[in-house]
Amino acid sequence: MRAILIGCAGAMALVACGGPVDLGAPAASRDYADYCAGCHGAGGEPGPIAQELKLHPVSLADLTMMNDGNFPGARVMSKIVGHREHGEMIGAEAGDMPPFEALLDGPVVLYDSGDGIQTPTPIRLVRLMEYIKSMQQ
Ligand code: HEC
Repeated sequence: MRAILIGCAGAMALVACGGPVDLGAPAASRDYADYCAGCHGAGGEPGPIAQELKLHPVSLADLTMMNDGNFPGARVMSKIVGHREHGEMIGAEAGDMPPFEALLDGPVVLYDSGDGIQTPTPIRLVRLMEYIKSMQQ
């Protein structure tokens, strides 16, 4: 019992005891501010840079509404890291949103994006997707 309490107190320096275990990835809010807010705005509404782009992003706070009430988590994650659709690179090469491979660094978690299959997915990517989910209005 004592050992458990000590272990718990020691861990508190990093994360709240009993809370989610921090595996060393930066907080999703920081990743969002660093990598996304310039174009997508702090709350998901397109930011100042977005006006200069060829393709204007939709508000990231409207994704659930625009997808018949279901947050498109898997699509958000593949958008972030860049992916091919019909052989075309969606992202950097399309001249608008760059792919963010850096977010693939670090530990992975098993994540079920809704198809019932647990896929090893970088925890930073999952957290960022969940951060965007929390912006939905
Ligand atoms: C250089 C500007 C720029 C940056 C930085 C950027 N985006 Fe984008 N993003 C865009 C543009 C432009 C679009 C719309 C065109 C497209 O889909 O490529 C877009 C589209 C998206 C979409 C698709 C929305 C839909 O229609 O379903 C998501 C999700 C997204 N961005 C998330 C992010 C996240 C998360 C980050 C940070 C890791 C980020 N973006 C960084 C410009 C940017």
